[in-house]
Formats: sequence, structure tokens, C-alpha cells
Amino acid sequence: MSHHFRSPQVIENVSKEEISLCNEKCPAQRIFRNPASAAAIDSNHCNMSENQNRLLAFEFIAQQIMYSKATSIVFLTILCFCANAAAASAESEELKRYTEQAREIVSKLGQSLKTTLKQTLKKENTARAVETCHIKAPDIVADAGNHGWDVRRTSLKVRNLEDAPDKWEAAVLDDFAKRKAAGEPIAGMEFAQIITTDKGRRFRYMKAIGIRKVCLKCHGSDLRSDVLKQLDSLYPFDQATGFEPGDLRGAYSLSRILDE
Ligand code: HEC
Repeated sequence: MSHHFRSPQVIENVSKEEISLCNEKCPAQRIFRNPASAAAIDSNHCNMSENQNRLLAFEFIAQQIMYSKATSIVFLTILCFCANAAAASAESEELKRYTEQAREIVSKLGQSLKTTLKQTLKKENTARAVETCHIKAPDIVADAGNHGWDVRRTSLKVRNLEDAPDKWEAAVLDDFAKRKAAGEPIAGMEFAQIITTDKGRRFRYMKAIGIRKVCLKCHGSDLRSDVLKQLDSLYPFDQATGFEPGDLRGAYSLSRILDE
């Protein structure tokens, strides 16, 4: 037998069984699986032309490139996944940090509105208090925002038209209503999200406001006539009546641009 093996290492890779198999038929599949043998076995043994052998070796190399490409795609995917996960965790850190700040602002604002309302109702009758509320409330709310914070109140049934919700706020208010219907208490109901706008990334936060007994004087269904009159003159498009204790009145809505 005259074998024309190319190198001694290759000889070791070729078993007798393989050579005899090769002599018989030379199944392409088998050679393909063991390219070292494919390249090594003399074309006489295989009844294959050198070109056919080369072609197989070439196909093998092509396969290897495809495998290594597949490997790098898998690797890149993992890398992307890791990068995304890192970005996501940085973003969730930001979300947490700003949510905590927003909660603090809302808690102070709620306290300050409550105190003002209480003091006003002590001093004035409800109709006068409506006017005081009309003058003071918007300032108290707006003043709660500083250091880049924008603070407002909103509702699906507004008294002051300037409090009308934007699309995002309306969707969150709808969601709050669903959550309430599902049994979640209004106290502590909130939603925070970082959204991307044409002005950059924006942190947005909303916290639900519920109706208590004291609110009914100006937001209930059984309003005194002087109160109604006052409301009519100040808010001809008032929708914020007819509420009952425990109803969802609206929400605080806070936002800030994150990167300018
Ligand atoms: C003395 C009357 C009065 C009482 C009592 C009162 N409100 Fe109001 N409320 C007003 C007026 C007037 C406005 C509109 C203020 C403005 O122009 O921003 C208003 C606005 C609001 C808004 C802003 C959204 C909108 O519709 O414009 C919310 C939220 C709200 N009230 C919740 C409450 C809650 C909760 C209570 C009870 C804790 C309450 N109010 C008690 C008179 C009252």
C-alpha cells in the first residue's frame, strides 16, 4: 500500500478502519467529520480526485468559520445582554433614588396643603375658603417643586383646567382606578417611570390622592348653595364634584429631566 500522508501527525489521526472504509466507499459525511483524515488520505484510496478532497477540506474550513461566527454571535449576545443588564440596573438605581425624593416632596406638600386647608376652614366659611383655595393651592403646589422638580396635581375630573392630565398622566390615573377596583388601598398607591422624550430622559412619578370627609364640603354631591355659586363663578367647567369618601380624587404628578 502506498499511502501519501502529508505529515506524521496526520497519520495518527487516521485509523485503519477509516482507511478501509475509505477504500470501500468514502462517505463524504465521515470524511467531513474528520477533516484531518480527509486531507490526509491519498486520493487513490478514496477514489476521489485531489480536487474533491480539496473541496471537502475547503467546505470544512467554511464550516469552521461559520461555527466561530456563531460562537461570536452567541458571545456578543451575552455581552449585549450583560451591558443591557448593567444599564437596566443603573436605571433602576436612578428610579429608586428619584422615587424616594418624589415621595419626600409629596409628603411635605400633602402636609402643607392639609394644614392650610384646616386653618382656612377654621377662619372662613366654606365659600370663602374656596376662594382662598383658588388663590393659594396652585402656588403651594408649584412651590413644592425646586431643584429641577416640576410638581402638580391632576385628575380625570378636574376643577382647575390647568390640572388636566396629559396622556401619560391619564393612563396612570386609569391604572390607579383599576388598581383601586382590584382592592389596592389608595394610600401608598404610586407609579414611577423613566421615559425618553425629545428633551432627554425624564423621570415621572404619580401618587394617588383619595377623598376624605373634609373634602366633601367642596368636592361632594351635597354642596351648600353659596359654595356652588362660588365654584360656578371661579370654575365654570368644574368637574370635581360628586365624590364620596374613599374615592380616587386624582394624583400628585412630579417630573424632572434627568440629563440635559
Ligand atoms: C374649601 C374648598 C375645598 C376643599 C374643602 C377641598 N378642596 Fe380640593 N380644590 C378646591 C379648589 C378651589 C380647587 C382648585 C384649586 C386650583 O385652582 O388649583 C381644588 C383642587 C383640588 C385638586 C386639584 C385637581 C383639580 O381638580 O384641579 C385636588 C387633587 C383636590 N382639590 C383634592 C382635594 C382633596 C383630597 C380634599 C380633601 C382633603 C380637598 N381637595 C378639599 C377646593 C377645595
